[in-house]
Amino acid sequence: MKIGILKETQKGEKRVSISPRIASQLISKGFEVIVEEGAGENSSFKNSYYREIGAQVEKRGVVFKEADVLVKINPFDREDLKLVREGQVLIAQLFHRTHKELIREMASLGVSAFSMDAMPRISRAQEMDVLSSQSNLAGYKAVILGAFLMKRIMPLMMTAAGTIKPARVFIYGVGVAGLQAIATAKRLGALVTATDIRPETKEQAESLGAQFILVENGRQITGDGYAREATEEFAEKQKKAVNDSLFLADLVITTASVPGKKAPLLITREQVEQMKNGAVLIDLAADQGGNCELSKMHKTKVYKGVTIVGTTIAPESVSTHASDLYAKNIFNFILHLTSDNKFKWDMEDDITRGTLILRNGEILID
Ligand code: NAI
Repeated sequence: MKIGILKETQKGEKRVSISPRIASQLISKGFEVIVEEGAGENSSFKNSYYREIGAQVEKRGVVFKEADVLVKINPFDREDLKLVREGQVLIAQLFHRTHKELIREMASLGVSAFSMDAMPRISRAQEMDVLSSQSNLAGYKAVILGAFLMKRIMPLMMTAAGTIKPARVFIYGVGVAGLQAIATAKRLGALVTATDIRPETKEQAESLGAQFILVENGRQITGDGYAREATEEFAEKQKKAVNDSLFLADLVITTASVPGKKAPLLITREQVEQMKNGAVLIDLAADQGGNCELSKMHKTKVYKGVTIVGTTIAPESVSTHASDLYAKNIFNFILHLTSDNKFKWDMEDDITRGTLILRNGEILID
């Protein structure tokens, strides 16, 4: 089976779906690997690195022609679809719920397609969970970016010239990114406060050394463990509960999202106006509409002394590691779907059934 790695074309994207390290692991498992020229260059992986481990490096058209499986990070776009062939298997984050027209076009081409973002959040699937592997890096880098933009330092420092108090960091949303942000800010010596709509995150945040703001809420989670959209009553209670920490913070990182919905608006313009002069706010949910009323994706602006950054971070700034972890998720997924290097899809299996959006042109998940 020949696995094709395509160069990402989406604006701002620097990752590649399979790194040379993981391509080498695929080859050692008996797969062939074909890579589009320059696919890894923005992640610091030269064409020669792929050649050295035994992969074929070719022009775009050749990859589409020869590969049995095509792997990407971002959804296949119209230019890609001009080149795909009937019977090919496509693997990417398809975000099928918001790309329905593209899915229909893909169906008309008679391909099969798996969506990595549809991976069930179950223990068995953790090693294939790209949302987690990428969010984890985003949480880390958000703190580093915040530390860089802050005009203060993070740790307590006692010097002959005086004592500097530790910075205050507030993490809004304690999922995968939020937990890593807490851990990173703690390692840098900050005082960390955090909150989430899911009460079970209290223990997780506290185990990393953060103080948790618990807002009583009934059960705001779905059967599969995700957050629900907050009620107005909860949002009002939450706003009051977090304001002290928000207004004292030197760095705020927001990560809150609700699957299939716009990100919840958690910080209004009026709240930003009461934040500390010089504070930094990093909104990791900016691409889903943002947790802060003033954030915009790919933009950094200063509003009344507060620097507001809208970013998802992993794709943009840690592409080497983000690619390598995404690749390992793909590697595990491909092994899960194959036996003796041939596809063997078990439709009784939650992972296969949950991610197979199209089978030979038939839309299985709408
Ligand atoms: P996410 O990116 O969907 O959301 C980030 C965080 O924002 C979540 O903790 C969510 O509860 C929180 N949030 C949403 N609305 C909020 C609001 N109005 N106010 C405050 N916080 C709000 O979350 P992520 O990181 O993708 O994790 C989602 C779920 O999946 C969690 O339950 C997590 O434990 C679980 N999970 C399971 C995995 C597995 O077993 N394979 C792997 C990773 C996550």
